Amino acid sequence: MNKVIFDTDPGIDDAMALLFLARHPQIDLIGVTTVFGNAPIELTTRNALYLTEAWDIAAPVAKGAGETFDPARGGSYWPTAIHGHNGIGDVAVPEAVSRQADLRPAYQFIIDTVRANPKEVTLIAVGRMTNLALALKADPEIAQLVKQVIIMGGAFDVNGNVSPAAEANIHGDPEAADVVMTANWPVVVIGLDVTMKTVMTSGYLAKMVESGRPDVKLLSDISQLYIEFYKGRVGDGMVVHDSCAAVYLVRPDLFETRAGAIRVVCSGIADGQTIQKPDGRGFPPSAWDNLPSQTVATGIKPDSVLEVIRAAL
Ligand code: BDR
Ligand code: CA
Repeated sequence: MNKVIFDTDPGIDDAMALLFLARHPQIDLIGVTTVFGNAPIELTTRNALYLTEAWDIAAPVAKGAGETFDPARGGSYWPTAIHGHNGIGDVAVPEAVSRQADLRPAYQFIIDTVRANPKEVTLIAVGRMTNLALALKADPEIAQLVKQVIIMGGAFDVNGNVSPAAEANIHGDPEAADVVMTANWPVVVIGLDVTMKTVMTSGYLAKMVESGRPDVKLLSDISQLYIEFYKGRVGDGMVVHDSCAAVYLVRPDLFETRAGAIRVVCSGIADGQTIQKPDGRGFPPSAWDNLPSQTVATGIKPDSVLEVIRAAL
């Protein structure tokens, strides 16, 4: 069984990934940690509590960061046109959810859970990297105790989606992302290079709803605004960014990858850009030389990834 902590900002594509992780038979979802991003932290946490309650997901939810790793950066913005004003497509959700968040902040929940399960936990992070950076800052030794870190974020050989250079999850907290990418733990980055190729059409989703399962129906209701946003950008369907990272855990064979150190640009016109120096490329000695080699997805089999999602849901 793959033990997973899902670090997320639900978020419509986050909701699909959450349901996938909860339902996949080879995955043991042992925690959900929230972060600001698609909506403010109060809303992403409320959404995580609501969805885990509605979908009967036992994993505890811990509330995470509401602002950037370096508070001086500031400047958060909410992508209401993509995820709605409430973060989950403006589908009506109860004001109050009976499920309560864990008493610990997300970074402490991550530290405690990793220490209790040494070398067994995969962190799948699909929002700003703030909680992971805070966990590393508070307890650097966890880098040696985590099994793997899988990130949805970045744009390496393609344009970004919030600027020509930067993808949203990285652009929203570049300093945190740079801490996470350069730490000595095994990181796999699933960026726009591959997620933008992975489009679930509205017909495909509608077919899944025909199963009659209420959890899939709720997911479909939440997804309609997101599908509307992507119309004209990718055709009729939704880009399942966050689910791609979740699928990598169980089906890495569906991805092509490249090894090399990663840095994140933290200022200027390319703020939030992710850059990889492929292993074996010769450059004059530089600060890149002592960084850990990480893994970046450069190719994907989109139809197979969609089928893995469909099968679990
Ligand atoms: C990422 O940004 C968020 O809007 C999505 O949930 C996804 O994690 C895509 O750039
Ligand atoms: Ca997300």
